[in-house]
Amino acid sequence: MTETVHYAAPGRINLIGEHTDYNQGFALPIALPERTEVTYRPDGGDAVVVRSADEAGEVTIPLDTARGAVRGWAAYVAGVVWALRDAGHSVPGGEMSISSGVEMGSGLASSAALECAALGALATAAGLSIGRVEQARLAQRAENEYVGAPTGLMDQLASLCGEPRHALLIDFLDDGVRPVPFDPAAAGVVLLLINSMAPHQHAGGEYAARRTACERAAADLGVTSLRDVQDRGEDALRGIADPVDARRARHVLTENRRVADVVAALGAGDYASVGRIFTASHASMRDDFEITTPHIDLIADTAVRAGALGARMTGGGFGGCVIALVAHERWTEVADAVRRAVAAAGHHAPSIALTEAGAGAGPSEMPNRA
Ligand code: GLA
Repeated sequence: MTETVHYAAPGRINLIGEHTDYNQGFALPIALPERTEVTYRPDGGDAVVVRSADEAGEVTIPLDTARGAVRGWAAYVAGVVWALRDAGHSVPGGEMSISSGVEMGSGLASSAALECAALGALATAAGLSIGRVEQARLAQRAENEYVGAPTGLMDQLASLCGEPRHALLIDFLDDGVRPVPFDPAAAGVVLLLINSMAPHQHAGGEYAARRTACERAAADLGVTSLRDVQDRGEDALRGIADPVDARRARHVLTENRRVADVVAALGAGDYASVGRIFTASHASMRDDFEITTPHIDLIADTAVRAGALGARMTGGGFGGCVIALVAHERWTEVADAVRRAVAAAGHHAPSIALTEAGAGAGPSEMPNRA
C-alpha cells in the first residue's frame, strides 16, 4: 500500500479573457499563492472517505459512484474519482482530508483547486502519471459531467500549470499553454485583489445562459465556435439574428483581441496600457456580456477614479472579485477609496490584498490538519 500523499493545488485569477474558454478563444490567468491542500491515506478499501476542515462530518464516496450521486462540496472529489475511473484508471480507496486556502464562491476557482488537488493526490497514490492537460480535462469532466456545471477549461489549466512571476497564455483551440512573464513588482506596480464578499447570485443559470447565447451566435454564423470568425472582426456580427446574442459574441471577439493586446503590452513592460485594457474589458463585461453587478461596477470604477491604472472583474461574474493594477505608491489610497465608496453604498466591507502569480499544483511538503 502506498504511503500517505500530500498534494496541493492553487486557485487562480484571470488577468483577462473572460468567458472565452468555451468559445475556443484566449485567456491569460495566473495561479494564486493560496492553495487547497489534500492529504490521502490509501487503505485498500472500496471507498474514498473525505473530510474537510471547513465542513462538518465526513462523506463516503464509493469507488463506483454514479454521476451526480454525491452532492455539495464533496461532489468535486466524487467527480474526480468518477472521471479517473471512467477514463480507465484504477483508484485506491482511502481517507482524504482537505483544507481549502482558496476562498469559496468568490470567483477564484476554489472548485478547480479542490478538483486538481484531489486528482493529484489520487493519481499519486495510484502511481499514475497523467500529463497536465489531460489532468485538467479529467477535472473539467468531473465538474461538467458529475457536478453538472457547464464550465470551460481555464480554471483547471491555470491551477495545474501556474508559475511564479508568469501568467499563462492559453489558446483553447488546442489547449496550448504558454507562460508569459508577469512581474508587476519589477515595474513598481502592484496587483490588488478586491473581494467584494458578494455571493454569486444565480451564477449557475446565468453562466449556462451566456454559453448558450454564444453557441446560438456561432450557429447563426454557420461555424462551430466563435473562434472561427475571430479574423473577420466585428463585421461577422451582422450575421447573428438576435441583437443580444450579437452583443454576447462582440464581447468574446473583442475580449480575445484584448488578451493579445495585454500580452503585447506586458512584453513592452507597459503596465499603463495593460491597465487601460483591463478597464475596457470590464466595460465589455458590463455592457455587452452583462455579467457584472452594480456593486462590482462601483468597486472597479472607484479604483480607476482613485488612480488605478485599470480594474476589472475577474472570473465567471455576478459577484466575486475585482483586480486592479496600481502604482505601488498609490495602492493604499485606492484601497481606502474603494472601502469608502462601498460603505457609502451600504455593501459589505470588501477584503483587499496585494497578490502575485504563484506556482501550479504539485506534491506538498505541508500536511494539512483537517
Ligand atoms: C468560470 C469557469 C471558467 C471560465 C470563467 C469565465 O471560472 O469555470 O471556465 O469560463 O468562469 O471566464
